[in-house]
Amino acid sequence: MAGDGTVQLIDEKGKRVDGRLKDELRPTEIKIGVVKNADGSAEIRMGKNIIIAAVYGPRELHPKHRALPDRALIQCFYRMSTFSVNDRKSPAPSRREKEISMLLSDALTSVVLTDKYPRTTIDIYIQVIQADGGTRCASLTAASVALADAGVPMRGIIAAVASGLANDIVVLDLFDLEDQKGSGDMPLGYCPTLNEISLLQLDGVFTLEQFDECLDLSIEGAKRLYDIQTNTLKQRYADIRAEVAVDEDDEVKEELKEQLNDEVKEELIEQLKEEPKKEEVKEEPKKEEVKEEPKKEEVKEEPKKEEPKKGDE
Ligand code: CDP
Repeated sequence: MAGDGTVQLIDEKGKRVDGRLKDELRPTEIKIGVVKNADGSAEIRMGKNIIIAAVYGPRELHPKHRALPDRALIQCFYRMSTFSVNDRKSPAPSRREKEISMLLSDALTSVVLTDKYPRTTIDIYIQVIQADGGTRCASLTAASVALADAGVPMRGIIAAVASGLANDIVVLDLFDLEDQKGSGDMPLGYCPTLNEISLLQLDGVFTLEQFDECLDLSIEGAKRLYDIQTNTLKQRYADIRAEVAVDEDDEVKEELKEQLNDEVKEELIEQLKEEPKKEEVKEEPKKEEVKEEPKKEEVKEEPKKEEPKKGDE
């Protein structure tokens, strides 16, 4: 919402109320995989904004008659927590939340390869935990990363930022005070790899030069955000690869353990088999020797007895 431009938002040295220069983004950090139940998720912290995006799907759509025969339906549900702003926000979905949900759905539909999943829905739940201006843009940035985390095929990733007028000076990434008291704001969603604008809104009065400058500044800012998005995604997959490698190591170790166990078992079995054999072998020759000896004596004695018989005759 644009203000009347009477509040001093930027000093003569070009420093803004929060200490940033006109072309500076707020410190931005993205985390991936923050909602374990979701197919993909991301948390963005952009200045004081804290927003979580959780993706579910592609999955069956209810009621079924809303399903599209040739593509998936992208549904965003943008909600502000009651405690996310200074004045308690009503928990009932407001017109503003419905409008933001709709425009985020449209922006993401332009990059997701929806024709791969006909008759399904991809649901993206966006929860604003803490709001400090530019939440629709931060939500779009987080939702794009969450979709990538869910493995949803996309033509590109959207980065979004709002620029606007602080005392008629074009500044990048408005925070709440600049959004409320500045004389204009222009949220932009941009995909650097496609060079495509997927969201553009404008509130306030801009000259053509201001509009062009705002657009250029936002595109530059979106490119920097895109780097943060892709670096975070790359780090995520490096971590997954490392986890998988550790798991594989564990598997190899387990296999070795099992092999060793088997070897030990076999050895024990062999030992058990060998022990009775040795006893039998030791006993057998003793018995045979004892048996054979008297036999030999008997055989020797028999011819001796026969010889004297022949001589007598
Ligand atoms: O957040 P975004 O700039 O995309 O949307 P906005 O409608 O221009 O809101 C600007 C800011 O106003 C939000 O980021 C919040 O900080 C604040 N706001 C609020 O305090 N209470 C609301 N019910 C809605 C917004």
